[in-house]
Amino acid sequence: MNLIKWQSGGGLSSKILVPLLICAGAVAPGLRADTSAPVPVLQVKADQAAGKVSPMLYGLMTEEINFSYEGGLYGELIRNRTFKANATNAVYWSAVGNAPISLDPATPLNDALNTSLKLDATGAAKNSPAGIANGGYWGIPIRPKTDYHVSFYAKAANGFTGPLTVAITGADGKKTFASAEVQSLSGWSNWTKYEVTLTTKNIKPSKDNVFTITMTAPGTIWFQQVSLVPPTFNGQANGFRPDLMQLMADMSPKFLRLPGGNYLEGDYINERFDWKKTIGDSSQRPGHRSPWNYWSTDGLGLMEYLNWCEDLHMEPLLAVFAGYALRHDYIKPGPDLEPYVQDALDEIEYVTGDAATTKWGAQRAKDGHPAPFPLHYVEVGNEDWFDRSGSYDGRFTQFFNAIKAKYPQLQVIATANVKSSVPDLIDEHYYKSQEEMESQSHMYDTRSRDTKTKVFVGEWATRVGSPTPNMAGALGDAAWMCCMERNSDLVLISSYAPLFVNVSDLGHGGSMQWPSDLIGYDALTSYGSPSYYAQVMFSNHHGDTILATASQNIPTVNWQPHAKRKNGAEQPPPPAKTLEKLFFDATRDRQTGTIFLKVVNSLGTPQPVKIEISGVTSVAAKGVATVMKAANRDETNTLKEPKKIVPVTEKVKGLGTSFTRTFPAYSITILELQTK
Ligand code: AHR
Repeated sequence: MNLIKWQSGGGLSSKILVPLLICAGAVAPGLRADTSAPVPVLQVKADQAAGKVSPMLYGLMTEEINFSYEGGLYGELIRNRTFKANATNAVYWSAVGNAPISLDPATPLNDALNTSLKLDATGAAKNSPAGIANGGYWGIPIRPKTDYHVSFYAKAANGFTGPLTVAITGADGKKTFASAEVQSLSGWSNWTKYEVTLTTKNIKPSKDNVFTITMTAPGTIWFQQVSLVPPTFNGQANGFRPDLMQLMADMSPKFLRLPGGNYLEGDYINERFDWKKTIGDSSQRPGHRSPWNYWSTDGLGLMEYLNWCEDLHMEPLLAVFAGYALRHDYIKPGPDLEPYVQDALDEIEYVTGDAATTKWGAQRAKDGHPAPFPLHYVEVGNEDWFDRSGSYDGRFTQFFNAIKAKYPQLQVIATANVKSSVPDLIDEHYYKSQEEMESQSHMYDTRSRDTKTKVFVGEWATRVGSPTPNMAGALGDAAWMCCMERNSDLVLISSYAPLFVNVSDLGHGGSMQWPSDLIGYDALTSYGSPSYYAQVMFSNHHGDTILATASQNIPTVNWQPHAKRKNGAEQPPPPAKTLEKLFFDATRDRQTGTIFLKVVNSLGTPQPVKIEISGVTSVAAKGVATVMKAANRDETNTLKEPKKIVPVTEKVKGLGTSFTRTFPAYSITILELQTK
């Protein structure tokens, strides 16, 4: 399976976008079961617990990539609301009428928002309005009978009498969907924040609209932090897009790994996620450039991440900046690193500290959240195996010792191997083709348990399909999740990446920096990929106990993995492999006795399988099956067909301690078996 993918920045040392040819390798023609082959047998030993299912196994990983927050989850609809996305041009803004607009660093709002947009509308008149317009992130979405909160800072040169008109109009400006007038009570000569609500009538939902601020009296006026926000999830101020929150809620995630990924590190140290600059009133946040090559206002800052966790009943998994940036700048361990270690300790205090007795706990209370947030995991850096200086061992150990000294209860995660300390967990990342994912589906079965360091699979994805994975991706993911779940005594936590992609502009320099991504959306609507639904299935059905299993006659195909490149040179092809195409794991809920048997059939033919359950008195004949299947591996969900491939739950009969069931071609099944 060959796919052209665009990959930029991130782990690559070059930030130039390059097409990557992702080659999965060749699979023997026709993924068909050999009809003469013996029926596969899956044995579940219900009286043999192989460990506890980690209650935190399924979480989320997030960062500002693919317009995940700005133009995604973060409610703001105005693109470049602070005019800092480009140092010389007011990008994403245009003039209405005959009135030049320009950036004016000489008229800043404050030290953080240290420029403004100047509108020279000296020719504005009743029959010739002038103003500014913004088309949002690939459109301003509107819905019927909905309130939109508008706010902006403005000041005008002497003599301007107002008013200003704010409006949402069609792209050509001919149709106005909502408008309101803004008067100034105090005169226009000083920076003042103006707020007004726009309410739509019974209109059709649409997204190709623009937001405008216009005037019909002549004047020169400056703007800063121009904002338009629709209703947010739970009505949270500075909050989130409801449909995306609901998609995540349905995954029942237990944690949120934040704030990255490469976004934590930045290309350069001064472009890291500098958390102290992301809290407090959003007009005091300077924003910064993301390593994914676009501007972040940091409107979604540390407190918003924490609110997101609370809204979805999950914990933050806090990744702290560890003194290494993507272009290989690093801070030497020792005194130079101390301020960064202190920053991390302060950040932990901001998340967990007592509001009455700690400095940063008090700051959190001031920022609107007196109660501390739960926190168990802190990650030091991201993918520090990229650090060629060899400094990670020293950097990690300095953070580890400081964190453990102050917060001995915290589990500290390393992102690369270290020698000088023993991390509680190591973060492993896997971005693979379907076949590669399947071929490593027994990887942790044989990993030594004789170690204190557990595993966090902090980024993983079967990268098949763009912008979002197709059924092949879901099958690879499901095989991999069987592996993680079966080994979740070792793999305590895991998170797919990336989580989000704005699919509005898939060209070079557009809205996607990295395929494949779990959830896609444009300004108006959203959808989950088949991989998303595979995770919904797994994370909502796992009980608490891993059961011992065995199998016979697992169907296989021949697979020729592609040659890898080393130092730019093609290597000889690796030996051909036998690739399993049927995957499974079994877990149980000790309280109810329910066994969850997950079976993934990656073959293109239905596969009869004999299932034998031992160690129970009985298995009820009636149970429940949740099945997701596709007619072929390339089938997928899109904005237009958001639910083409989804799990379907049905009651089933004919179950017992021994039964045969046929699993559909290209399918993921969870059988819920009631046992005594
Ligand atoms: O998930 C995309 C990127 O992949 C992450 O930012 C980085 O950690 C990894 O290289």
